[in-house]
Amino acid sequence: MLRKRAERMYDEKLDLSQPIVWESEEERAAAIAFFNAAYRAEESGLTQAHELAQEVAAWDPDLAECLRLYGNEEGWHRELLTEFLAWIGGTIKPMGRVTGTFYKLYGRAERMETIVLTNLMFETIGSTTYRLALRRATHPAVRQMLTILTRDESFHVPLNVHFLRQVLARTPWISRQRLKPLYHLLYGTLIASAYASRRRALKFDKIPFADLSKAYAEHLGKLFIHESDLALRPSTAILRLFGLRRSELARAEDLSAVSVLAAEAAVDRERVIVNAL
Ligand SMILES: [Fe+2]
Ligand SMILES: [Fe+2]
Repeated sequence: MLRKRAERMYDEKLDLSQPIVWESEEERAAAIAFFNAAYRAEESGLTQAHELAQEVAAWDPDLAECLRLYGNEEGWHRELLTEFLAWIGGTIKPMGRVTGTFYKLYGRAERMETIVLTNLMFETIGSTTYRLALRRATHPAVRQMLTILTRDESFHVPLNVHFLRQVLARTPWISRQRLKPLYHLLYGTLIASAYASRRRALKFDKIPFADLSKAYAEHLGKLFIHESDLALRPSTAILRLFGLRRSELARAEDLSAVSVLAAEAAVDRERVIVNAL
């Protein structure tokens, strides 16, 4: 499927024919901040995926190809974002202190399972943010950019769970244990990151802190709820803070975001219905 997606990927172009009339200069600045954050996420995803691909190639060439093709999708997103940012009169800005430190630490991570879990959790907050922003967006070009990102990241989440499983199958038990504290650290940190992003992007995406942080708590919490073998379960205390319960997150009718079914539902770009995003 990744090969098939790659064949048609570059045919999809942004329609930038209708200029945006911003409510205010602050709104435009917030949009630039929003898409800058997206750009950095794509850049980091691309680099990490290609580095992993090189490493994995020695023991699993097929998995390496998946990682390479997945990295290319992030590379394509980065290109689209570069074009989009220029069109709204923005540039790619150097990262802020907090974001910079975060990505620097992440860039230094060496263990494969650490990289894949971190990336997976990044993908999750990415797809959550894009989806919430898309629901509120009205301009066609903004909607198109957000639709592409939401649609593709929804596929990347289950794809990364697949990568995680493949990597874990070769990981010694002791290293698997190390994932738990990392999961909990990222769970808290990423929910808190909603606060920092509100300062910069709220005027554009209009997602209040309460909604965004709760959505992060829910979607990051839900990630592994049906994957009992991974034993990565969200803290009950944090869930309670947002009025959420594990049992609710695990509700049977709620399709696991990381299931094969979820991946299949999101894999075919042409078949993804925008209203369902
Ligand atoms: Fe992406
Ligand atoms: Fe992605």
